[in-house]
Amino acid sequence: MARPSWSDEMRSAAVETLDSRHWVKGRQVQAFGNEFANYCGTLNAAPCQNGSSALWAALKIAGIGPGDEVIVPSYTFISTATCIVLVGAQPVFVDVEPDFFCLELDSVRKALTSRTKAVIGVHLFGQPYDPKLIDFCESNNLLLIEDAAQAHGARQQMTDGSVRVAGAMGDVGCFSFFPSKNMAVGGEGGMLTTIREEFSSRIQSITNHGRTPNLESVELGSNLRMSEVAAAIGRKQLSCLDEWVQTRRDTADRYAALLENHPLIDAPVVRPNAQHAWHQYCVQTPHPEALQAHLDKHEVDSRRYYTTPIHQQQIFANHYQHETILPETAKLGETLVAIPVMHELTELEILRIMVALETFQLD
Ligand SMILES: Cc1ncc(COP(=O)(O)O)c(C=O)c1O
Repeated sequence: MARPSWSDEMRSAAVETLDSRHWVKGRQVQAFGNEFANYCGTLNAAPCQNGSSALWAALKIAGIGPGDEVIVPSYTFISTATCIVLVGAQPVFVDVEPDFFCLELDSVRKALTSRTKAVIGVHLFGQPYDPKLIDFCESNNLLLIEDAAQAHGARQQMTDGSVRVAGAMGDVGCFSFFPSKNMAVGGEGGMLTTIREEFSSRIQSITNHGRTPNLESVELGSNLRMSEVAAAIGRKQLSCLDEWVQTRRDTADRYAALLENHPLIDAPVVRPNAQHAWHQYCVQTPHPEALQAHLDKHEVDSRRYYTTPIHQQQIFANHYQHETILPETAKLGETLVAIPVMHELTELEILRIMVALETFQLD
C-alpha cells in the first residue's frame, strides 16, 4: 500500500545535514517551512513532529478548551478527534457525504450549538472537503481547522471561482509526513500552515515552548520541533510532490475507466472542480471480504479503513454519542476497500492490480 520514495538526492541532503552537525533549529527547518507555505499559498508554515501534534497545536493556538464544542467527522483517523479531547474540549461527531467521504454540510449545520467554536474538516483520502464548508464557518464565526494529513497536493475551486491548494482551505492547516503519505521526511513529521495573520507567528512559537524570539515563553507550547535532517529530506520530497500526485491521478484514471461497468465494484467519485490527491484509492463493494481474498490471491495488497467509527471506539465509551448510528460512516466502514495507488507503483504492478479488479466475481 505504501512505498516511500528515496533518491540519491534525498540521501545526500540527509548526510550533508548530519555532516554539518547542525541538527536542530537551523536553516533546513526554516527553508522547508517557507517552501511549504509557498507551495500551499499560505502566509506561513511551521514544520513540526507529526500530524497529531499539529492538530493539537492548531486547537491550542485557537484557544479551544473546556466548555467548547468542536464538530468533527467520525469517519477519519483517530487523532482528528482525540486532539479535541487533549485540549479539554468536547468532540461532536457528524456524518460524512456518501459520495465524497468528507464532512456533510447539513449534518454540520444541525450539530451547531452556542458552544460550537470550531470545525475540523478532513480532506479524506486526498479528496478536498466541500468548499461551502469554508463559507459556512466564516458566516457562523467558527474556526475551521483543516486536517490535510492525507491531502498534500490536492486542489479545489472555491465558491468564488478561485483555486486553493490543501493547507490554504482553513484557518489553520495540519499535515502529516508519516512514511505512507504523499510525501514524507524519512521518519515522523508534520506541518502547520495558516492563511491568518493572527496565527502566523503563533504556529511557529507553539512548536517551541510558546517562546518569542527573545526566549520568553508567552503562551503554553511544547517542543514539537522537526529535526534538520527530516526537513532537509522533506524539501527534496516537496520538489517532487506535483509530479508524484500527477502519477497517482493517472493511475486513478486508469482504475476508474476499468471499473466503469464493473458489476461488483464502484470506483470512488471526485468532487466537482477538485483535484484529488489520491492518498488512497478506495473502492466500494457489498463484498469486501471476498474482494480482499481475491486481491490477496493476485498478490495485491489492500486495506479496510475506519471499520469502527471513532465515536464507537472504546476511548469514547462514555461519550454521549457512543451509541449513535451515523449511517454513511457505518456504511463506508462496511463497504470500503483501499487498493494501492502510490506513485512508486511499477507498470507491471498496476497491470496486476487491474487484472485482479477485472476478474473479481463471486464464486
Ligand atoms: C486524517 C489524518 N489526520 C491526522 C493524522 C495524524 O498524523 P500523524 O500520524 O503524523 O500523527 C493522520 C495520519 O495518519 C491522518 O490520516
